[in-house]
Amino acid sequence: MLRPQGRLPPGPRRPAPLQLAEWAFRPLPFLRMCARRFGDAFTVKLPRFGNFVYVSAPELLKQIFTAPADQLMAGKANYILEPLVGKSSVLLLDGADHLRQRRLLLPPFHGERMQAYARLMQEITLASVERWPVGEPFSLHPYMQAITLDVILRAVFGLDEGAQMRAFAARLVSLFKPRPFLFAFLPDWMREIPGSPYQKFMLQRAEIDRELYALIDERRRAGDAAERTDILSLLLSARDEDGRPMSDEELRDELMTMIAAGHETTATALSWAFERILATPEVAARLDGELRTPPADPAELGKLPYLDATVKETLRLRPIIPIVVRQVQRELALGPWRLPAGSYAVPCIWLTQHRADLFPDPERFQPERFVGTRPDPYQWLPFGGGARRCIGMAFAQFEMTVVLGTVLSRARLRLDGPPVEVVRRSITFAPSGGTRVVRDRV
Ligand code: HEM
Repeated sequence: MLRPQGRLPPGPRRPAPLQLAEWAFRPLPFLRMCARRFGDAFTVKLPRFGNFVYVSAPELLKQIFTAPADQLMAGKANYILEPLVGKSSVLLLDGADHLRQRRLLLPPFHGERMQAYARLMQEITLASVERWPVGEPFSLHPYMQAITLDVILRAVFGLDEGAQMRAFAARLVSLFKPRPFLFAFLPDWMREIPGSPYQKFMLQRAEIDRELYALIDERRRAGDAAERTDILSLLLSARDEDGRPMSDEELRDELMTMIAAGHETTATALSWAFERILATPEVAARLDGELRTPPADPAELGKLPYLDATVKETLRLRPIIPIVVRQVQRELALGPWRLPAGSYAVPCIWLTQHRADLFPDPERFQPERFVGTRPDPYQWLPFGGGARRCIGMAFAQFEMTVVLGTVLSRARLRLDGPPVEVVRRSITFAPSGGTRVVRDRV
């Protein structure tokens, strides 16, 4: 029998501030409890925002990811990123503007193009491994952050290694430190206070913007975009359907978007990959076998089936971003429920990828699940879905295979310290302690 129509799915009854506190501070027990009690879809009430409908059934996820772009909007739900990425960022746009920007951005990120960055990614990884301590414990995460930032600055921005790039990287890292998306919640009068953290952030941002605009200008003048492989150069030659290029402001905002969306995410995913591999001896042994004679061309690392499956299984078991959010503009019929305008449809990546009916023995780290198969986009969705799916999906997975393959075939690592737990780091779910390891002498 169908449930009655015309209402939101059930959910916890406790007051909204308590639900927010649970989602913020005990997210996994909270999600598990809701899934156990309410099943495929449940409504969480959050102060200020209202009804968030968390969804984990593939058929419902398909409905969300294929809904018309003017019915469910993501840009509106991402507004907290505005202070960092700017209002022209693809993350903040909706409708026709979003589609235009996405069409301009997608070609340079096409799967096959990633091969061009393999050597660079390997070189950056090798230089990092050189600096890792031997025989004493350390956290992998800061090294992963440095690797993924360097990869973006060199492969995406096309910067050359050197003192200037180091100084720029350091400025970017300090810009991201105060969790800039919190500034979106500040009332206008607080933004005006001289010397406040917001004002300091704006000064730092202005300095970085000057450098970004200078870089864009220099690249435009050089007129050598056709010979270059970096993504900024490809974007400089991109034209929309009316033959229009991207404006300087759009380019600036997308460069910041790629750092904001692509740096910490990939670093955290790599920290998880090392953690899961080192905690699962049978997986480590099988990878060891596949990497015994590492390919001379690092691009070939992307084609090793078990390594590729290990990346996919890491992103299944430990998705970095647990949910994506769409704001409902017109009432949405979702299975037996109806979501009114103003509520939010929330594909829950974490719960979907931990369902025992989709992934038997779901807590087990078992890359074999993905050997020789293509994941179903409504069951495996670490990069979100539909017309908003992550633009860097191929880039990030390729980078992960190159970094993992390069490190595992050169350094002998083992986990150190207490078992690693899932902890929230702003909007990501990260490994506690940043994956502490010891590198053994060989
Ligand atoms: C393991 C690493 C990464 C993960 C887990 C990840 C995950 C995600 C997720 C969940 C979304 C939201 C999708 C949705 O709303 O349906 C997203 C969007 C996006 N990501 Fe990634 N991402 C990663 C790496 C990257 C990289 C390396 C880049 C670029 C250099 C990138 C650029 C973007 C952009 C531009 C969007 C916005 C797409 C749009 O709104 O149309 N991401 N990512």
